[in-house]
Amino acid sequence: MRRLPVVTVADKLENAGWLDPAAGWVAKAVKAVMPWPAVRDVLHGVPLGHPLHPLMIVVPLGAWVSAAVLDVLPGNERAARTLVGVGVAAAGPTALAGAADFSQLDTEQQRTGIVHQGANVLAVGLYSASWLARGRGRTGLGRALAFTGLAVTGAGGFLGGHLSYRQGAGVNRNEDFAEKVPEGWHSLGPVGAFASGVPQPARLGAVRLMVLKRTDGAADGAVSVLADTCSHLGGPLHEGELREVKNELCIVCPWHGSTFSVDSGEPVHGPATAPQPSFSTRIRDGLLEVSVKP
Ligand code: FES
Repeated sequence: MRRLPVVTVADKLENAGWLDPAAGWVAKAVKAVMPWPAVRDVLHGVPLGHPLHPLMIVVPLGAWVSAAVLDVLPGNERAARTLVGVGVAAAGPTALAGAADFSQLDTEQQRTGIVHQGANVLAVGLYSASWLARGRGRTGLGRALAFTGLAVTGAGGFLGGHLSYRQGAGVNRNEDFAEKVPEGWHSLGPVGAFASGVPQPARLGAVRLMVLKRTDGAADGAVSVLADTCSHLGGPLHEGELREVKNELCIVCPWHGSTFSVDSGEPVHGPATAPQPSFSTRIRDGLLEVSVKP
C-alpha cells in the first residue's frame, strides 16, 4: 500500500535542523519553569507507569469532537459552546504534561515535537476564538473556527502519533528484555573483576548490564545488577551517578536524569516511567551469577 504524502512530511521533520533553535529554546524554558521534581514526575506519568500526556489528550479532543457533532445538528449551540470551552480549559494541563515530556526528548524527536506543539497552540487559539465568537452571537463564525481548529489539532495529533510510534518517544526501551535473557542463572565472570562502590558495565550475550558492588551501609558486600539501557531513551546507566534518594541508593541516568533504585530498578524520578529490569545475584566459586527477577 502506498504511504500518504503526509508521512513523508513527518519523516522530513525529523531531519529538519532549522527547527533546533526553537525546539532548544522551548525545552530550556520548560525546564526553567518546572523546577520541582515531584511536579515533573506527575506530569511525566511516573506514578502511572507510563506517560500521562496521551491519557490527558482524551479530554480536549473528546470535547472538541463532540462539539463538532453538535455543530452539524440544529439546536445545540449552547452545548457546543460549552464543549468548546471545556476543551480549551483542559488543553492547558494537557499541554503541560506534553511539554514536560518534550523537554527530555532527543534532537530528532524534539523537531517533530515542536511542530506538534505549534499545531496544538494554533488549535487552542482557534477554539478560544470560536468560544468568544459564539458568545457574541456569531455562531457561524464560531463553527468555522472550530472546524478549522479540529483540522489543525488532527494534524498535530498525527505528528504526536509519529513521535510515539515511529520515533519511540515515551516507550519502554526494555520492553523485550525478558525475551533477551533466558531464565536461570548466568555467570558474569569473576566477582573480583568488578570494582567496589562504582557502577560497572557488563554483558550477558547481547544484553548490557550495570553491576554495582555495594559499599553502602547494610548492603555492604552485596551486588546489585540492573539492565544498563535506560528505559527512557536508552542512556548507559553505568555512566550515571550514584545518589541517595529517600534513604534508597539510586543510579541517575547521565542523559536526562531518570533516577532508579539500584535494588528494585523502580523509577524514583522521571522522565522514565518504566522500571529497569533488575537481577537476583549470587556468588559461586568466585563467579558473579545473575538471574533476572520475575
Ligand atoms: S535516557 Fe533519558 S533519562 Fe535515561
